[in-house]
Amino acid sequence: MDNELIESAIRAMQRAYAPYSGFPVGAAVRADNGRIYAGCNVENAAYPLGTCAETAAIAAMILDGGQRITAVAVAGEGAALVTPCGGCRQRIREFAAPDVPVHLADSQGHRASFTVQALLPEAFGPDNLA
Ligand code: THU
Repeated sequence: MDNELIESAIRAMQRAYAPYSGFPVGAAVRADNGRIYAGCNVENAAYPLGTCAETAAIAAMILDGGQRITAVAVAGEGAALVTPCGGCRQRIREFAAPDVPVHLADSQGHRASFTVQALLPEAFGPDNLA
């Protein structure tokens, strides 16, 4: 597993703004330029406006010129490891090949890994529009 990436996601989780759900999430993506971009969930009193950690990490990558995701890490707490929500699976798919690993982690040391393909099989993506 990519411990550096996981540690970035856990640090991002600690910065989350999640006063309404009480459910902080952190995410980190490793880009094709070798750099790591992290993000956290940012909730809002108008609940539907809250944004996911993965969305923030991807936006940071794009802003800095990263183009492709080579690995993802998502960190959260609770009974089960946090997998990306459906919308974020699609957002990850936009920039990641099917075999890209998605590492899940909590601060207690629990870990699991899936591929983008496993999380979003038969995905619609940029190739469909080519
Ligand atoms: N959340 C994420 O940030 N990423 C996910 O993939 C799952 C859910 C956030 C959204 C909301 O702020 C909180 O977790 C509870 O759903």
